[in-house]
Amino acid sequence: MSITSDASSLSQEGLALQAATTADEVCAVQLAQRLSLPVLTTGMDLVHFTSAKAVLVVSGQALYLQQTGRGAPGPVGVNFGSAGMRHRSRSGTSELLGKAVGHGKKIPLRVLDATAGLGRDAFILADLGCEVVMCEREPVILQMLHYGLQSAASSSDIWLSGVVQHMRLCSQDARYLSAKEIQGMDVIYLDPMFPQRAKSAAVKKEMALFQMLLERSADPQDADALLVWALQQNTARVVVKRPSKAPNLATLKPSHCIEGKSVRYDVYVHRKLL
Ligand SMILES: C[S@@+](CC[C@H](N)C(=O)[O-])C[C@H]1O[C@@H](n2cnc3c(N)ncnc32)[C@H](O)[C@@H]1O
Repeated sequence: MSITSDASSLSQEGLALQAATTADEVCAVQLAQRLSLPVLTTGMDLVHFTSAKAVLVVSGQALYLQQTGRGAPGPVGVNFGSAGMRHRSRSGTSELLGKAVGHGKKIPLRVLDATAGLGRDAFILADLGCEVVMCEREPVILQMLHYGLQSAASSSDIWLSGVVQHMRLCSQDARYLSAKEIQGMDVIYLDPMFPQRAKSAAVKKEMALFQMLLERSADPQDADALLVWALQQNTARVVVKRPSKAPNLATLKPSHCIEGKSVRYDVYVHRKLL
């Protein structure tokens, strides 16, 4: 097993991987090989290990990213059964997202979430009854999503394991999906990165990690190109999540907008959902 605390073998993003317990070491080493990350000694104190910006921790069925150093915020991972997700799935936020994709107009509604991230929007859509295909191109986030889905699928909570039955993960850039894979999709949903000021500590810690991992996705031209691609596909509509005051992506005017308190959904309609 290759265990290191050598800063020179860290990834470009300053990432390393660690097993939470000795029982997690085999999984940690396999994952580290897949992601080309060095493995830190199990039990190594991450508060004082500042050679890495963040460490991916394998802990049983969970995989989370922990920033290092004193005063670092708590871990970020994918936990679809968390109190936050349960609350969100019952709040008005899901209604807005549902309205934007056209929930209720077609059953089942097939949504391609081309920017899966931590999968929260995809989960909300699946909970509403949509069939969701998620695309994620960033390997670390992809693995966190994979662990989150596996853990939810094997949960004894019937609601949770049931919802994730309607979510499928594709490990690639959405723009490289074949026409056959997109065929049958009703909606393409986009939530690209946007540099914004966050109010809550929870959002701030996630954004810090996203920004570290996703410099490419934070490029506004990358998001513009993604919308242009999405609009060229044969789907009934494309929905883009934006901070409420942000300009339209690619300066393209949507057919209509669904406004929330801090976000809006720009809806580009090609045809009726039938
Ligand atoms: C802001 S996050 C999305 C958050 C997500 N909506 C959620 O609810 O957790 C944007 C994600 O999209 C991914 N992404 C951006 N462009 C992509 C593309 N062309 N194909 C696949 N993934 C992409 C990034 O890697 C990043 O993880």
